[in-house]
Amino acid sequence: MKVDVLLGLQWGDEGKGKIVDVLTPEYSIVARFQGGPNAGHTLEFEGKKYVLRSVPSGIFQGNNINIIGNGVVLDPALFKVEIEALEASGHSLTKRLLISKKAHLILPTHRLLDACYEAQKGDAKIGTTGKGIGPTYTEKVGRGGLRIGDILCGFEEKYQAVKARHLKTLEQFKFDTSSLADIEKEWFDGLEKLKEFAFIDSEHYINKELVNKKVLAEGAQGTMLDIDFGSYPFVTSSNTITAGACIGLGLAPQKIGEVFGIFKAYCTRVGSGPFPTELFDEDGDNMRNIGFEFGSVTGRPRRCGWVDLVALRYAIMINGVTRLIMTKSDVLDTFKTIKACIAYKINGVEVTEFPFELAGSVEPVYVEMEGWQTDMSKMQKEDEFPAQFKKYLSFLEENLGVPITIVSLGPDREQTIIR
Ligand code: GDP
Ligand code: IMO
Ligand code: MG
Repeated sequence: MKVDVLLGLQWGDEGKGKIVDVLTPEYSIVARFQGGPNAGHTLEFEGKKYVLRSVPSGIFQGNNINIIGNGVVLDPALFKVEIEALEASGHSLTKRLLISKKAHLILPTHRLLDACYEAQKGDAKIGTTGKGIGPTYTEKVGRGGLRIGDILCGFEEKYQAVKARHLKTLEQFKFDTSSLADIEKEWFDGLEKLKEFAFIDSEHYINKELVNKKVLAEGAQGTMLDIDFGSYPFVTSSNTITAGACIGLGLAPQKIGEVFGIFKAYCTRVGSGPFPTELFDEDGDNMRNIGFEFGSVTGRPRRCGWVDLVALRYAIMINGVTRLIMTKSDVLDTFKTIKACIAYKINGVEVTEFPFELAGSVEPVYVEMEGWQTDMSKMQKEDEFPAQFKKYLSFLEENLGVPITIVSLGPDREQTIIR
């Protein structure tokens, strides 16, 4: 069998958690392959809402196995909070959640370094989630990181050595480390919780299970935040794209099956960095307020704008998307006019290919369509779609060259139409 991949095509928060949960009954295993607690994946069903950070979104349906793969970075303190909240709501995961020995640990000092580097950057800061993601991946590539497997032997000594190195750096920047003792206490408590779970060689596990089981790889962040192909340097520090699933789970490329690319009917971004279709008007405010566009991790208001088909076509190419999933079109239900960016004007020249960088004057070229002005949130079947919405779907499919096979019309599991 193959591994299907579901990932975000924009700047994150496309609704990945919700759709992974919807698709979960078709899969025996759901695995995260990159990112860490910078992710916030929201699921809603039976009147309850859950936000997952490091735990895959496949935990709520059936008895399937969920895996935190080698490409993920894990913070034991935040992991403990997440697991205890799930346990309090009746979801015990110790037998169903497996963790790769090769996943890297986010240390307390990584969190401080994240804050320190952001402070150094001043106005040019990335606007990170402050979870220590960048410093942890930097450490991994710099070959000094600590992995889950290290917890099992001689951990304290290795930990102290890395901590001492980090403290030297923090001292150079005169960064206040007075919170470290408290963070460390929570972190080591978290480590005890983490030890309740099985640490495995997940690359062997998944490749063996693939003989007769279906696996879904769940992306975090989005393609525009990818370290290589995103809006560098305003990106995260991992490969958020399909190739990231090969690296982050130990899969040969030919093991990849369907690639589900998910996008919002408009576009959002949190943190700094270019965003060609960003709106500063009433339409943008309406998207934010109707769509509750506030970060699920940091609570920051998300920047909002029209859908960007130049960026989407690029993301589809890089990921090899075979099926598209569109979320949150219900947020546009009251809009009289809907716009989609089909090209950029750069220095007066119209381009349809995603450029080297988005900095400077990138002016979006829009097509305008009549809005459907109909409440779609309770619709159950495609036949109920208003004519203008059908036209919008056909326009997108034609422009993007990939079928839209799922339309999400609200945050609840039930508000999903499979086409
Ligand atoms: P993720 O990081 O990609 O999993 O997305 P987030 O959970 O951070 O953000 C998506 C937000 O939109 C969450 O609050 C979801 O509950 C919500 N959501 C998901 N799909 C839809 C949809 O189709 N319509 C509406 N109105 N909300 C949605
Ligand atoms: P999910 O999985 C949206 C953004 C941050 C910042 C940049 C770098 O919920 O879609 P980092 O902490 O990773 O070093 O921050 O990336 N970012 C996200 N934005 N959704 C996410 O995850 C994000 N994870 C990181 O806001 O701009
Ligand atoms: Mg999110």
